[in-house]
Amino acid sequence: MPIAHLQAPLRAAFQAHFGAPPSVVVQAPGRVNLIGEHTDYNDGFVLPCAIDYGTLVAARPRADRLVRVLALDQGAAEDSFGLDGAIAPRDDLAWPNYVRGMLQALLADGWALPGADLAISGNVPQGAGLSSSAALEVAMAQAFKQMAALHTLDAMRLAQLAQRAENEFVGCRCGIMDQLISACGVAGHALLIDCRSLQTRPVPMPAGMAVLIVESKVQRRLVGSEYNLRRKQCEAAARHFGAKALRDVDATMLAAGRAGMDATVHRRARHVVTENARTLAAAEALAQADLQRLSGLMAASHASMRDDFEITTPAIDTLVEIIDAVIGHDGGVRMTGGGFGGCVVALAPALLCEQARQRVAELYRAPSGESATSYLCQPSAGSGVLVAD
Ligand code: GLA
Repeated sequence: MPIAHLQAPLRAAFQAHFGAPPSVVVQAPGRVNLIGEHTDYNDGFVLPCAIDYGTLVAARPRADRLVRVLALDQGAAEDSFGLDGAIAPRDDLAWPNYVRGMLQALLADGWALPGADLAISGNVPQGAGLSSSAALEVAMAQAFKQMAALHTLDAMRLAQLAQRAENEFVGCRCGIMDQLISACGVAGHALLIDCRSLQTRPVPMPAGMAVLIVESKVQRRLVGSEYNLRRKQCEAAARHFGAKALRDVDATMLAAGRAGMDATVHRRARHVVTENARTLAAAEALAQADLQRLSGLMAASHASMRDDFEITTPAIDTLVEIIDAVIGHDGGVRMTGGGFGGCVVALAPALLCEQARQRVAELYRAPSGESATSYLCQPSAGSGVLVAD
């Protein structure tokens, strides 16, 4: 269901549950990364776009310091907590911690927040690697920004605080990509992000192109532990080169520094160093609508994730091959996101995306026997206010 259609049921549920209409409704999108994987926490480059699947938050400030939350997509589950004193994580449920962590990060950064009644609804597939958690964090911050008139809380700061919530409260050592693109996405564009300077450059999507996301239904196992392990290996590699981050290592240094380096750590570093170069080249290729070049870069990115970073799975590799056989050099396809399951992204003329989708339906089955689910997306704007009374 398109995200806009969720607004009326969300407002109705808010009114029914809290006995008054919301004064604010905001949205924040999920994201898909076109190229630049596991580069963000290495101070490198990423090229994601926000998608037209997102999270809505309806809100109304309260006179007291209580926060009450209704999660419509979690079987109308509820959470409530006070804003005075430290906010503690819950260990029985995951979703409240994105809300609690976000508010804790805002408070710790010195922003004055009111108590509030909140209702959440969204259509980002959960656990598929399309950043439903970043969308929730960013939407939550946006709702409080609007309610408390936090005019000086800009989108970049908001994204940094959302990342801090994830790092320090939820306990995932993710980079800045997901929160930043959810806060700062530009409609019709991908965003080239320099994750060191946080400078962004919108890159227009060529006319007639579509973004196809295919959810593999491969169970995302060990994502957290393997993700944090990759981070540690990258940090070890940077130390080996005497660099602040792998961003500062180039292909020549990489080749020269191989001796005395653990072979696995070297391959991890090679992925990041080559992926940074591919991401910059892909932004240029996209800007020039050079699909053939983009196709090669996305294929090389996938091979690097498969062979050097070792974050794909056999089923995901098969899915990429099925799509590649349809779109060839007229577009690109690769696994997207943290890895070990999740989604594949293809960027190709709309007609080819449709054909690829049909081939996937015919040929692909996950190890569980399930078919894939496909989403044709529009590169969308970042978080924004839909209703403000
Ligand atoms: C997850 C993290 C991001 C990024 C990607 C891999 O989505 O949240 O910060 O590291 O994995 O590119």
